[in-house]
Amino acid sequence: MNLLVTGGAGYIGSHFVREALKKGHNVVVFDNLSRGSKESIPAEIEFRQVDLCNKEALQNEIKQFDIDCVVHFAAFAYVGESVESPSLYYNNNVVGSLNLITACVENKIDNFIFSSTCSLYGNPNKVPITESESIKPINPYAFTKYFIEQILVDYSRAYNLKYAALRYFNAAGADPEGDIGEKHDPETHLIPIVLKNALDNSRPFFIFGDDYDTEDGTCIRDYIHIIDLADAHLRAIDYIVDQKKSLILNLGTGNGYSVLEIIRKVEEITGRNLNYKISGRREGDPAILVADNKNANKVLGWQPKFDLTAIISSAWTWHKNPKF
Ligand SMILES: NC(=O)c1ccc[n+]([C@@H]2O[C@H](COP(=O)([O-])OP(=O)(O)OC[C@H]3O[C@@H](n4cnc5c(N)ncnc54)[C@H](O)[C@@H]3O)[C@@H](O)[C@H]2O)c1
Repeated sequence: MNLLVTGGAGYIGSHFVREALKKGHNVVVFDNLSRGSKESIPAEIEFRQVDLCNKEALQNEIKQFDIDCVVHFAAFAYVGESVESPSLYYNNNVVGSLNLITACVENKIDNFIFSSTCSLYGNPNKVPITESESIKPINPYAFTKYFIEQILVDYSRAYNLKYAALRYFNAAGADPEGDIGEKHDPETHLIPIVLKNALDNSRPFFIFGDDYDTEDGTCIRDYIHIIDLADAHLRAIDYIVDQKKSLILNLGTGNGYSVLEIIRKVEEITGRNLNYKISGRREGDPAILVADNKNANKVLGWQPKFDLTAIISSAWTWHKNPKF
């Protein structure tokens, strides 16, 4: 199939691109490089430096290609930044996505995969979290994702558009071959923060709260390897194209690990001493976020293959020797 990947120069998008090429898809990447790296895109594929917020440029570029499905990763994704600069988030994420979805409808591109998030659930009533958990975003970033999901629901009713909204839990790990990996600036994700400390522990990192209602008092999250995420996207593409039905699915492993468990695992894998301190809770951090992934298994036949050791080992390979 001919795939348009937005945000393909970013962390998750660049890993998806490689897996899609292995499956024999043709890929074109649109990315404005505001937060991604050109080096993470394979040299042989088509790349266009396009900002999704520039409607005219987007329209002109999208017309140049015969696209079967759009895989839309491009977004800003820092919760804290979204609280400080909501305008940046509503403009980039909602306006950019609306431009893209509109361009799909106008150009008769009927299949759309969207990077959604478990942040939609806010503080969930029940864990593991199913897709029928109530939607209660608690920050602008999560609201942008909620609005885009709603746009997709409404557009699919009115136009010939099929979509998959994939609600990721914590994406983690790196390309097992070590060619690409996670590179966010600033880094806000736990595993890369801890691995960076394994490389240089001259300054401590902080654990935000050790008084949660969990076994060791620290927050529990569900870490999913990006290659497993990519696999679920490839299956979702086949599903919406073949079945002509839309989908909303959680993508997580169903296993939760506390912050302290991650730290112990990183110490075990790297053999390094870590330097950390406990500080107060961060506002808006739920104690436990773990996916119920039964639907993804049932509908897509998808099962995550990488465990926590594989996630941290692959990320460590990258952080020890980043290629860019
Ligand atoms: N990383 C996670 O754990 C996680 C969890 C849930 C959802 N998500 C979602 O997955 C997607 C990818 O996340 P990531 O961690 O790879 O982020 P990332 O920042 O590494 O990648 C995003 C890419 O989108 C590009 N981009 C941003 N705005 C753009 C615009 N207006 N036009 C064109 N390109 C633009 C950036 O340059 C970057 O290359 C995002 O939509 C994010 O919200 C990520």
